[in-house]
Amino acid sequence: MKKIVISTGGGDAPGLNAVIYAVVHASARKGWEVYGSRSGYSGFLDIDEMVRLTPRDVEGIYATGGTILGSTNKGNPFARPVENLAGEIQLVDTSDRIMRNFRRMKFDCHIAIGGDGSLEIANRFVEKGMPVIGVPKTIDNDLEETSRTFGFDTAVSTATEALDKLHSTAKSHDRVMVVEVMGRDSGWIALYSGVSGGADAILLPEIPFDIEMVCDKIADNDLHDKNYSIVVVAEGAKTIDGKVFNKGHGELGREEVVLGGVGEWVASEIRKRTDKDTRSLVLGHIQRGGSPTTFDRLLALRFGAAAVRMVEEGIFGHMVALKNSTMSSVPIADAVRHRKQVDLDSDKVCTARDIGICFGG
Ligand code: F6P
Repeated sequence: MKKIVISTGGGDAPGLNAVIYAVVHASARKGWEVYGSRSGYSGFLDIDEMVRLTPRDVEGIYATGGTILGSTNKGNPFARPVENLAGEIQLVDTSDRIMRNFRRMKFDCHIAIGGDGSLEIANRFVEKGMPVIGVPKTIDNDLEETSRTFGFDTAVSTATEALDKLHSTAKSHDRVMVVEVMGRDSGWIALYSGVSGGADAILLPEIPFDIEMVCDKIADNDLHDKNYSIVVVAEGAKTIDGKVFNKGHGELGREEVVLGGVGEWVASEIRKRTDKDTRSLVLGHIQRGGSPTTFDRLLALRFGAAAVRMVEEGIFGHMVALKNSTMSSVPIADAVRHRKQVDLDSDKVCTARDIGICFGG
């Protein structure tokens, strides 16, 4: 008999519930018990809050968005903001308490479903002696050592559908539409949705952009009787002179800055320089919501089942990964070392250039 605990940390992504479903079912068939920690690591701080998960508890959840366990991107257990008696906020290291509770609950393994931030934390627990298996989640697709993270395909589908809808309104009004998409410092969502959704320009964090080149593309469209243009901008895109766009740190306990603002800036520059009617929109969290696509559902179910096989084989400190279309495992430390960025020599980038999409650089 083994006892597994699952957590879901960081920004949610479609497919989280499918991983939970697979872990619970694959474990139940072996006679193992599964528990869930609520809101990332928060559940580990109070063992009475641990949720027992049986196949009945997860019925049908593989098709739903979000996470039944809840998630947070401001709950680093190594630096948890806590208010002291004087009303001041202090950062407290709660990792020893979590290790103690993990042992008190007699867990054999922690399956940590997360992106770069949550898996970095998971790796620190590996270093403290916790047997952890990571599962790569994020709509940003920016984890190394796996060709895909689950959640990305759904986000790209949502963004592509939004672009499809913008074409008709942009055309009716002779407008430029600038669409800001998520992805942090990687341009995967912008590239995949922009190419598939007929963008005229795609601005990626990997290619600092010259706004003049974007305006030239818009002017060229006009010259060739295309009265409207669609520009897709990744939230982490920056200008050739190093201008970056963010909104500071946001909530207490959040470690990364909140990106945003580049779409509006690009739109106002285009308006100024081309005199064209220009509108911008931020696609935002709609990219994280909704039911996972078939691809993400299947990938998440495969990741969950593979993680349980790894528990059986005792492959701890590793993350389940997709390599050459098959399930594989890699050290968590390798997956979080760098953020995976778009390969500028890839055929997707070449395809975009071949069909006339402007990258602004
Ligand atoms: O990492 C996923 C992600 O959606 C990023 O693409 C985005 O920058 C960030 O999370 C948004 O975070 P929040 O939900 O805290 O606004």
